[in-house]
Amino acid sequence: MAKGLSWQLSFSCSIIITFFLTLTIAQQQPLYHFCSNTNGNFTRNSTYETNLDGLLSSFSLNATNGNGFHNFSSGHGSTMANAVALCRGDVSQGDCFSCINDANAELRNRCPNQKEAIIWYDSCMFRYTNHTVIGDAENSPHFYTPNENNVTDVDAFNRALDSLLDRLMDVASSGTSLGKFATGSERVTALQTVYALVQSTPDLTPIDCRSCLSQVIVDIPRCCDGKKGGRVYAPSCNIRFETERFYTLTAADTGTSSTAPPPTPSLPPSNDTTTTGNKNNSSRLTIIISISAVGFALLVISCCIFIILRSRKKPKVKAKKQEVTEAADEIKTAEFLQYDFNSIRAATDNFSDANKLGQGGFGAVYKGTLAYRNSIAVKRLSTESSQGDHEFENEVRLMANLQHRNLVRLQGFCLEGNERLLIYEFVPNGSLDNFLFDRVKKACLNWERRYKIIGGIARGLLYLHQDSRLRIIHRDLKASNILLDAEMTPKIADFGMARMCAVDQTQGATSRIVGTYGYMAPEYAMHGQFSVRSDVFSFGVLVLEILSGQKNSSFHNGSNVDDLINFAWRNWKAGTVFDLVDPSLRDGSRTELMRCIHIGLLCVQENVAQRPSMGSVVLMLTSYSTTLPLPSEPAFLLHS
Ligand SMILES: *[C@@H]1O[C@H](CO)[C@@H](O)[C@H](O)[C@H]1NC(C)=O
Ligand SMILES: *[C@@H]1O[C@H](CO)[C@@H](O)[C@H](O)[C@H]1NC(C)=O
Ligand SMILES: *[C@@H]1O[C@H](CO)[C@@H](O)[C@H](O)[C@H]1NC(C)=O
Ligand SMILES: *[C@@H]1O[C@H](CO)[C@@H](O)[C@H](O)[C@H]1NC(C)=O
Ligand SMILES: *[C@@H]1O[C@H](CO)[C@@H](O)[C@H](O)[C@H]1NC(C)=O
Ligand SMILES: *[C@@H]1O[C@H](CO)[C@@H](O)[C@H](O)[C@H]1NC(C)=O
Ligand SMILES: *[C@@H]1O[C@H](CO)[C@@H](O)[C@H](O)[C@H]1NC(C)=O
Repeated sequence: MAKGLSWQLSFSCSIIITFFLTLTIAQQQPLYHFCSNTNGNFTRNSTYETNLDGLLSSFSLNATNGNGFHNFSSGHGSTMANAVALCRGDVSQGDCFSCINDANAELRNRCPNQKEAIIWYDSCMFRYTNHTVIGDAENSPHFYTPNENNVTDVDAFNRALDSLLDRLMDVASSGTSLGKFATGSERVTALQTVYALVQSTPDLTPIDCRSCLSQVIVDIPRCCDGKKGGRVYAPSCNIRFETERFYTLTAADTGTSSTAPPPTPSLPPSNDTTTTGNKNNSSRLTIIISISAVGFALLVISCCIFIILRSRKKPKVKAKKQEVTEAADEIKTAEFLQYDFNSIRAATDNFSDANKLGQGGFGAVYKGTLAYRNSIAVKRLSTESSQGDHEFENEVRLMANLQHRNLVRLQGFCLEGNERLLIYEFVPNGSLDNFLFDRVKKACLNWERRYKIIGGIARGLLYLHQDSRLRIIHRDLKASNILLDAEMTPKIADFGMARMCAVDQTQGATSRIVGTYGYMAPEYAMHGQFSVRSDVFSFGVLVLEILSGQKNSSFHNGSNVDDLINFAWRNWKAGTVFDLVDPSLRDGSRTELMRCIHIGLLCVQENVAQRPSMGSVVLMLTSYSTTLPLPSEPAFLLHS
């Protein structure tokens, strides 16, 4: 590159403009690149290689859409090559164009035969893969780099940065598919101001954008605590802050504010869902955030590929020296976070009762607040497992790979002495049982919402059973394990606990029953036999609870204590099944209500083989042309 530069200089110094242009472009050094081994290598002269070479062939300036985001594809079927590029929101189209071209050439050089690779420059990110990535929020691989200069008043600086990033995150994530980018600044003191930029690829939904950004923000304390600046880059989003303005002002700039009076908490835009709805995301009700595409296994292998251009001449124009931190440790942590016990203890106020969210079978759950108002839920496992640290970590890492819109995201863990903690995303609305079984709050759950909740749980469970690479049997599906996010989207919690806590899950029978009476299939409760169909049973109970608004374990028919399943079955036989329906749902669609009761009863059938799979359940819920079989007698299990 240095040679190339002088070569170019000698040929173009007569034209000053060209000279400067070349200088700026030629001096853009990649910040970081990563060749992935997940999808293997391609062979020389293969169709894939041809397609990769052809990726940018149709790329021309006038084809740019102005938001800095570009997608390319070349070829068909299994040899199709796909690429996306994201230019920084304040970069001109011309610079964006050159950056993408350079990035493509550089990446092909540096990753000569990998099917998948990614590279970051100051002005753009470019990655290619053999699968499409539009709409996927990807956080790995990611890297960070601090500005080495220290700030003087760390607390004031962090307060200002905290509030600034919060504000920018709101602006960026409420952006449309035309752009999710924001810049702005915040006064720290009369003499100091902090400037920041946040951006995600505009194809993400507002929720995914926010979630991607919150995950990169978590790295700031690790990367750049007390530093005057820093950057964290992931494939789908990135942030940067400095004490000098490093971006050009655009329409996306939010100006300067001052933290002096604490800013009012920034609520998400009230019509956030409208923004979501605008996007053509109906076709991807199920968003699978595949962070594992560039899996961590190969991260370890590929750490050595990390190349810093240390030996190169330092660019003269560059204002600040940026050092990319060492790879090994960082990517590992970036992949999936291992938190240290003290920071979690601090985040949960020493596991105070005030922060306790609940008590589950495997331990208590606390709310924690990390830097930058990033809330987490911490599960503190009761320390009785005989499992070694290594096995535990392995299982936890596997669980973290399970990412689905309807699953609570596991974002890290902590292992220190006897302490084993699981760190989850914080889901704001608490669990379904708090709404469903509360006389006042249940009014929030009209039929439309409940129907969506049933569908969401079904898809989450289907993912666990079939679509993820690990087949997970939940074993303790119940209303208190369904959490609701700000938009009342259900998220299944506590999956994989049996694996993470080393309760035998390799065989279809176990001597340790984990689960909750009332939700447990009879074959599991009595003989310890579990299967995906025992989860289906629990799902059926849950559906009946959602419909009736009553707990299976304390079901009342008028003033009489009854059994929910028994009651549903009796009324089904008598043709009066609508008696089961929660009176507040009377205006719901009769067809949908009826269908859900029917599905609920199919799921709780005594005969294991007759219970539908979650795949059929999802189909039954979505396609009205599917005729449902008649349910046979359910299993009546007295909860004693
Ligand atoms: C792919 O090629 C790289 C060298 O370019 C090599 O190090 C790596 O082991 C290869 N991976 C596989 C799966 O063959
Ligand atoms: C690829 O094709 C070119 C010409 O088509 C040939 O010169 C070269 O040897 C081939 N390489 C391999 C590895 O087959
Ligand atoms: C770019 O513009 C030229 C001339 O204006 C036109 O011929 C060409 O088709 C355009 N390319 C694309 C991809 O729109
Ligand atoms: C991807 O590219 C195609 C054409 O190449 C375009 O029609 C489509 O809108 C692009 N998708 C996104 C999300 O930008
Ligand atoms: C990508 O390549 C891998 C390895 O060759 C293959 O298993 C996978 O199916 C490919 N993906 C697509 C979408 O073709
Ligand atoms: C910043 O502070 C750290 C320790 O607090 C010190 O080691 C480092 O040299 C300082 N850096 C600069 C540029 O002053
Ligand atoms: C949000 O949308 C509703 C209608 O869907 C409208 O009545 C309300 O005024 C909107 N709120 C804002 C803040 O735009």
